[in-house]
Amino acid sequence: MTTTILVAGGTGNLGGRIIHALLDRGADVRALVRSGTDRAKVEKLEQRGVKVFRVDMSDVPQLTRACAGASCVISALQGLHDVIVETQSVLLGAAIAAGVPRFIPSDFSSDFTRLSVGDNRNFDLRRAFNEHLDKTSIAGTSILNGAFGEVLTYNIPLLDFQQKRIGYWEDPDWRVDFTTMDDTAAFTAAAALDAATPRILRIASFQISPKELVTVAGEVTKEKFELVRMGSREELAAHNRRDRAAHPEGEQEIYPGWQQTQYLHSMFSVQNEPLDNDRYPEVKWTSIRSVLAGALRRG
Ligand SMILES: NC(=O)c1ccc[n+]([C@@H]2O[C@H](COP(=O)([O-])OP(=O)(O)OC[C@H]3O[C@@H](n4cnc5c(N)ncnc54)[C@H](OP(=O)(O)O)[C@@H]3O)[C@@H](O)[C@H]2O)c1
Repeated sequence: MTTTILVAGGTGNLGGRIIHALLDRGADVRALVRSGTDRAKVEKLEQRGVKVFRVDMSDVPQLTRACAGASCVISALQGLHDVIVETQSVLLGAAIAAGVPRFIPSDFSSDFTRLSVGDNRNFDLRRAFNEHLDKTSIAGTSILNGAFGEVLTYNIPLLDFQQKRIGYWEDPDWRVDFTTMDDTAAFTAAAALDAATPRILRIASFQISPKELVTVAGEVTKEKFELVRMGSREELAAHNRRDRAAHPEGEQEIYPGWQQTQYLHSMFSVQNEPLDNDRYPEVKWTSIRSVLAGALRRG
């Protein structure tokens, strides 16, 4: 029997990839879109055979009708408190009202269950939503993927191609978790079609330390990279607290500068352990070399 999965945020970067992976696995896919959602993105979903529901995300009866008969609701929404806590809670309520057995929230992050409140504002929103989810009757599955592997190609302090520098905090041997967007999407699709997932699934396409990154980046680019200590983890946390206090306007932005450095702090504070990578043998994990070589080819 074909399994029906409902995806919210399917017009987004990760959500679109999750839909693609679900269709590849033969699922019957529904997508929630807003009245203001880009028409071209909606048409693309329809052309792929996705059943699109145009909804008001605050209208519980509309959402409940869209959820009816689904085995799992996946949220790949992105936003601040109004989306991650409020809109996801409305959607969760509709999923429960429709009798959907499982909900995958838009976590897709480092392991915030092992971080403290205040370390990472975006993770605090996910923690708040999950606390609410855990008080309901529906089964929740959080997918924790570390950082997207692609961020290593964005000239972040951890790997700066322009300055030929690998910057790290605290420990040059600390292995940071990375999962590419496509690997995250493939694993999420497999998890959505698996009726018996645990509450949390931890994955990583690769785990790599700053020291190892010096070698790999050097081999892939044929250039020499310098390993630079940026400070201790506590110094980074103190910087983040000061920067957040100095830039309150960032509270209204998804990725203000201080949130990006909060993310770096999270990357150097928690590791996905143990990994659930082997749960779905058909999911093949992308290597760090292939991520870096791909970025180099694209220029
Ligand atoms: N681990 C990492 O390194 C990493 C990096 C990036 C993202 N992520 C996570 O991946 C998830 C998806 O992010 P993304 O980058 O794919 O996001 P994205 O491309 O910005 O897409 C966001 C999606 O959410 C929808 N949306 C936004 N606000 C909404 C609202 N108020 N009501 C209904 N729909 C709304 C958008 O719909 P419209 O098309 O209608 O606007 C779109 O489909 C998030 O949890 C994000 O934190 C993780």
